[in-house]
Amino acid sequence: MIYIRSQKEIEKIYESNRIVAETLQLLENEIKPGITTQYLDKIAEDYILGKGAKPAFKGYNGYPATICASVEEQVVHGIPSGRELKQGEIIGIDVGVLKNGYYGDSAYTFAVGEVSEAKRKLMKITKESLYEGIQKARAGNRLSDIGNAIQTYVEAHGFSVVRTLVGHGIGANLHEAPEVPNYGEPGRGPELKPGMCLAIEPMVNEGTFDVESLNDGWTIVTVDGKPSAHYEHTITITNNGPLILSKNEIG
Ligand code: MF3
Ligand code: CO
Repeated sequence: MIYIRSQKEIEKIYESNRIVAETLQLLENEIKPGITTQYLDKIAEDYILGKGAKPAFKGYNGYPATICASVEEQVVHGIPSGRELKQGEIIGIDVGVLKNGYYGDSAYTFAVGEVSEAKRKLMKITKESLYEGIQKARAGNRLSDIGNAIQTYVEAHGFSVVRTLVGHGIGANLHEAPEVPNYGEPGRGPELKPGMCLAIEPMVNEGTFDVESLNDGWTIVTVDGKPSAHYEHTITITNNGPLILSKNEIG
């Protein structure tokens, strides 16, 4: 069942997403060669707790940290560690927040210093594919129109879309119905309606779309070792189209 959220509920989802967006903005300023992903995690946790909110991922199915920090060939769910970021790497940071019973969830991929042209293109196309998907999140469209738009855009630029991980409904749960794939035929699945809240999150690989899980039980990596990028926004569907609840000032 896909929830239709009331205006009051959407305000709470928005409030949690404000904290998520502010956390990502804060982290952007800290990302440079030599810092560790654990340091980023600490900054994020302190900020979220300071806002009277809770990190949504910590403890979720036993996940041990506040953020997911996925470097280079890590696609998503990288666990913060003592690993130092190096010039030229890319890092996907995913932040989730719970406040007043409602969730926010957003992710962004950052460059560490100067990165190659190829990585810049991977990040740009992935971010743009998210907005292609968001543009389809309109009342009267079908759910699969979102994934179809993402896949079409990504593949037109020579990259591949991860299949085994999907976006999701969000609200009083971090993950709720429906699953939001980033690929597929258009015109399928449930009709989109005002009040639905979705986390749309394309994961895009430079090489093959195949991924695998590391022994830590969390980190998802590309099987070919090539880099991957991830952007995510929480949106709601209004009578006037999609509204991005996790909008940030990073761009
Ligand atoms: N944004 C990711 C998701 O929506 C983060 C989940 S990490 C977890 O699935 F630790 F919470 F599982
Ligand atoms: Co998510």
